[in-house]
Amino acid sequence: METDLVQGHNTNEGEERTARTRHQIRVNGVLHDVSNIDPRTPLAPYLHFMLLLHGTKTMCFESACGSCTVVLEYDDPLKPGKRIAISVNSCLYPVGALLSLKNHQILTIEALGSLKKGLHPIQKRLADYNGSQCGFCSPGFVMQMFGLLKNNPTPSVQEVEDNFDGNVCRCTGYRPILDAMKSFAKDSDARLKGSLIDIEDLTICPKTKQPCGQNSCTGPAEGSDILLYDDFGIKWYQPESLHQLYNIMQEHIRKYIKLVNGDTTKGIYKGSQYFKILIDVKGIPDLYKVTMGPTGLKVSSNVTLSSLIDYLKEYSDQSPSYNMIASHLLKIGNVQVRNIAGWAGNLMMKWYHREFHSEVFVIFEAAGAKLTIGYKGGKKTCTPLQFLGVNMKGKVLLDVEIPKLKENEMMNCYKARCQTQNSQAYVCAAFRVQLKTSSGIKSVESISMVYGGISKNFIHASNTEKYLQGKDITSDETLQDALAILAKEIIPDDSNPLVARAEYRQSLALGLFYKFFLFLLDEGYVTPCNRSAIYSLNRPVSSGKQTFSSKPENYPLTEPMTKLGAYNQTTGELLYVNDIYPQQNELFSVFCLSKVGNATISHIDTSVAEKWIGAVKVILAKDIPGSNTFMPPPFEVEEILSSGPVLYAGQPIALCVAVSQHFALEMIEEIKVTYKDEKPPIVTLEDAIEQKSFHPLSGKELVVGDPEGIISESLHQIEGEVRAGEQYHFHMETQICRCTPTDDGLDVQASCQWLDLAQQAIAGACGIPAKDVNVKANHMGGGFGAKVTRANLVACGAALAAHLLNRPAQCLMDLTANMKAIGKRHGYIFKYKVGFNDNGTLNGVIITYYCDNGSSANDDEVTAFFAYSDNAYKCNNWKLVPVALKTNRAAHTWCRSPGSLPNIFVIETILEHVAKFLNLDPIAVKQRNLYFQGDITPLGFNLPYCSIRDLYSTQLQEVNVVERLQAINKFNADNRWKKKGLAVVPLKFSMNWTKGFYLCTVSIFGSDGSVMITHGGVEVGQGINTKVAQVCAYALEIPVDLISVKSTTTISSPNSGTTGRSITSELNCLGVKNCCEILKKRMDPVKDTLPPGTPWKDLVAACFKVKVNLTAQYWVSCEPSHIGVPQYHSYGVTVAEAELDVLTGENQINQVDMLFDCGESLNPIIDIGQVEGSFVMGMGYWLMEKMIYDPKTGEVLNAGTLHYKPPFSKSIPINFNIELLKNAPNPLGVLRSKASGEPPLCMSCATLFAVKHAIEAARQDVGKDTYFPLSGPATVDEIQTTCLVDYKNFSI
Ligand SMILES: Cc1cc2nc3c(=O)[nH]c(=O)nc-3n(C[C@H](O)[C@H](O)[C@H](O)COP(=O)(O)OP(=O)(O)OC[C@H]3O[C@@H](n4cnc5c(N)ncnc54)[C@H](O)[C@@H]3O)c2cc1C
Ligand code: FES
Ligand code: FES
Repeated sequence: METDLVQGHNTNEGEERTARTRHQIRVNGVLHDVSNIDPRTPLAPYLHFMLLLHGTKTMCFESACGSCTVVLEYDDPLKPGKRIAISVNSCLYPVGALLSLKNHQILTIEALGSLKKGLHPIQKRLADYNGSQCGFCSPGFVMQMFGLLKNNPTPSVQEVEDNFDGNVCRCTGYRPILDAMKSFAKDSDARLKGSLIDIEDLTICPKTKQPCGQNSCTGPAEGSDILLYDDFGIKWYQPESLHQLYNIMQEHIRKYIKLVNGDTTKGIYKGSQYFKILIDVKGIPDLYKVTMGPTGLKVSSNVTLSSLIDYLKEYSDQSPSYNMIASHLLKIGNVQVRNIAGWAGNLMMKWYHREFHSEVFVIFEAAGAKLTIGYKGGKKTCTPLQFLGVNMKGKVLLDVEIPKLKENEMMNCYKARCQTQNSQAYVCAAFRVQLKTSSGIKSVESISMVYGGISKNFIHASNTEKYLQGKDITSDETLQDALAILAKEIIPDDSNPLVARAEYRQSLALGLFYKFFLFLLDEGYVTPCNRSAIYSLNRPVSSGKQTFSSKPENYPLTEPMTKLGAYNQTTGELLYVNDIYPQQNELFSVFCLSKVGNATISHIDTSVAEKWIGAVKVILAKDIPGSNTFMPPPFEVEEILSSGPVLYAGQPIALCVAVSQHFALEMIEEIKVTYKDEKPPIVTLEDAIEQKSFHPLSGKELVVGDPEGIISESLHQIEGEVRAGEQYHFHMETQICRCTPTDDGLDVQASCQWLDLAQQAIAGACGIPAKDVNVKANHMGGGFGAKVTRANLVACGAALAAHLLNRPAQCLMDLTANMKAIGKRHGYIFKYKVGFNDNGTLNGVIITYYCDNGSSANDDEVTAFFAYSDNAYKCNNWKLVPVALKTNRAAHTWCRSPGSLPNIFVIETILEHVAKFLNLDPIAVKQRNLYFQGDITPLGFNLPYCSIRDLYSTQLQEVNVVERLQAINKFNADNRWKKKGLAVVPLKFSMNWTKGFYLCTVSIFGSDGSVMITHGGVEVGQGINTKVAQVCAYALEIPVDLISVKSTTTISSPNSGTTGRSITSELNCLGVKNCCEILKKRMDPVKDTLPPGTPWKDLVAACFKVKVNLTAQYWVSCEPSHIGVPQYHSYGVTVAEAELDVLTGENQINQVDMLFDCGESLNPIIDIGQVEGSFVMGMGYWLMEKMIYDPKTGEVLNAGTLHYKPPFSKSIPINFNIELLKNAPNPLGVLRSKASGEPPLCMSCATLFAVKHAIEAARQDVGKDTYFPLSGPATVDEIQTTCLVDYKNFSI
């Protein structure tokens, strides 16, 4: 940053001159020579490993999570003097592709600000608005905002909200991030208190002393030789004219050639290594032309999707279709992808992979676009459909003409997808019709109906097109006949388990056509009820209110203060394990995973892998010096590397160690495994139940009263079944560990939630004592339970590599390995039987919990969480039966709110079922069954402070439930194809401290009175360090900035328990509080000798002088007699309202209002962050996130971002209001507080039930007003199918 030197590989003078003109890239104002870098190297690892810029994070390497966002600037090839500044994902963008961009520059988070230099306003506001928790996503969000402001310093709130379709945050629930970013908008809410900034304040270029990009800094690769690289087994060309391009293509006509534009295709189709000839086409001026002609808009093939959208908007007055197409293109990928991806590359993906849902293809084909294809010696035009049949060898897409609509022509395009952002289409469709009106009749002259997502070869609905010619479109008969023909010709391919079911896609295709049909008609023709089919769900800009109280007299306790370390996160300076620069000689190891699910390894051939370039060793089970298990006793053995038996597809069978991760990953491909005794794996829960494949249970069933007897005597009985699926934790920092052999044993830098267990596992595997294993955890990029026990796998991997090879080593799982090798939140089938009275009062409940534990029951939850089975409802007779299923899947593990989340869902389902059976309002039925103060739970615990009845009725009133239900009923009666629903979920959450044990230490430095804390929890973004510092400051009556909270280590806090189950923050606060009290007691006698008001520093010095021990330790643990007894209960009520597009199943949560009892919150903004983040994670679980397994092997099929979708920023409730119950001190908590990490998540099923009520309204319209179960995840396709959409009910 400081100088304008060429950094990178040394060159001699002559070479340097060449390099300066041909192989330079500029990053944050500094030129770097990349002549010795493989041009295909993605920018992110280059920034990370070569330039040591660690602020840019990586997670997915699929261009879909945004953590690697950087800003790219270059001269606009079309408009001289204009600079382009765009956000791009650096994980895919190749270093070599920069060289064709004139005056390019990459700006990373380091260019904006730092703790030393001062923070950039975006970094500061993101932290100040509490927009970072684990912080892993923060630099990506900052850079994405920076990219927006570079182009548009005064965006609207809508533009800000639209800007984040490619950035994932798993922790915050997005609301605070969006608020922080909206504070830069010109029309932001006064509440956000932001101000506009001058983005050009940022002076980056040390050469020009100008805001970077104003003047020429660096040129593109100049010179006559267009072969830029002839190394690394490839040739990389950079032609400057079409003539040169054709010549290169001719020269290599027999080879696999790849033209490089955005190079985003790798995000979807990964294997691109077979391309040996790469031609960067971005230096060819002819491929940037854009002209608006008399017949249409002609756009050349280097024009990106973002630019195409801009041009279509610019010329929208020329054709009504242009705005429509632009809006549709905005739904492709995400901002970062569209900023570099070309339409031509999208079409070529369709050309290469017919099954690809290319929306560009569908739109262009329906619009009647003309493509020009160029080749040496000529060019020709064709339609997109004809293009699929063209042999593209040696040919290039030159341009496309998107015609204007003719008079009487109408067009529209549709996309139905699992989420409103960053998701490919289930089905997309575009229709263009020419109408004619004669004698008052509107009929079809010609029509083009194009579909994507049906099957490889289905493009036009030709039979329906033919039928419609000449038909009157105002007739129901035309509609029905057309639909019947369409239904016959649309036969979706059902062979790919990753694609939604054929039945749904067919129904969707018909629904989309119905939308278009009604769109063609003047409003007067369409019955008011059916008009709701035409429009898409309207999502206004989201907003939220956070209400809480605090006690200024106790500050910093209860103070809503910014999280310590937040600035470190938003500047990208916080080093996660992967950011620590590799030591000299450091090795990289990755697991080779089994591809079969139930077999025995017969032989592993490692000979090729071990000779692979960069290979150091392949470690097998036989090489493990200690115990081959990553779960130390008393846990059941789970092998680090299979010694023979393979229990699931995805199980580690070898550890490949190499000098780089890249080579280690390549080694995996070279390992050959042969298996014997292959048996069909048990993949589904049903199979496990049928085959009685159970783990021996650690607990047993719970029977209270006489449930069987009482149910049979009850006035009413029902039985039912419902399911809850698995959930991938989606921590942004995937599993990683680094180990360094030292003279003291092994130093371990772990990203794990339970250091003590990792220590035991490593010691066991290496056969060394625990005292020789020093584990340290600084800060994790998210864990959510996946790093409690499962982090031991990479910990043992890294330790074995380091120990056996006596070199520093790291073990990292990329996203795919992480999703395949590691288990998820447990999936369930619940079966229940209930007896109840006429008014819905529960008499007896029997629930059998079939819980999939996968291949091991080490992280069992089914037998341990009965405390949540009753949620907030009283019943005197219970039978709760846990069944731990054994399947051939990775052992499932705890995930935020384990056990409680599914258990509360099933009792909520039961009460909804009871209400529907009796035809009563479920809200009233739930209210009737709520606990009273002093009631006893099924586990026999008293509820002395139970406030749920009050909270329930208060919240119903506060958020106007009665009026809103009336409005919803009216809406549903008025609209046939859009429905709304509202649901209420109360909460009683049992907080059990009994599994918490932590060692806390507080030391006061005699020299200056500053204070150091170490505790047994791990900062994972939940704000534990801030809370303990607040407690310490309060207890010692000193300012927070005198306090430093150090990383957790097994040296400072040995034998400490796991960070999880919500209790860690409060128990470590308790430990620190007690340490402070010990210290105060020791210091008080000295204090009494000093004048009142003696400054703290002097008091400490006086104590030190008389040799007072200024270090105190406290071991937090529970009396054995209290084991299993809840410390206290949390209460809450959530009201959720949903809206549904019946024809597609797409839905949105219009409003959520949660009242949550957090006691006297230690830090209300941190607690609200926990509430919002956990609730949105829960929404993902209930409505979006679905694991897909190979039915034959059990392997996880959707191991990546393409087919597994966590919530994005527009998945959150549009109006998201959280209130922490005011004046609610908890007499049984730490300093009157209550925990916030998990309980609110359990109310997120309210969103599923709100959607369910909307579905009920849709089913009422077809006369099916009976109970139906709705399992989680209720994905868009499931929802639409449950709505019983039948095209025969479509009418005008
Ligand atoms: C995260 C993500 C989400 C996405 N979501 C969607 C989606 O929702 N809907 C959708 O339709 N698509 C989606 N895509 C696909 C995306 O639109 C394409 O990846 C992109 O348009 C390809 O353009 P590119 O410039 O990056 O092509 P490149 O990757 O540079 O090139 C792709 C192929 O096209 C060839 N090629 C490039 N230019 C030319 C040319 N002028 N003439 C001939 N051949 C050429 C190349 O040789 C190469 O084989 C998504 C992609 C990603 C990564
Ligand atoms: S790592 Fe680049 S988008 Fe995810
Ligand atoms: S703070 Fe966004 S992923 Fe953790």
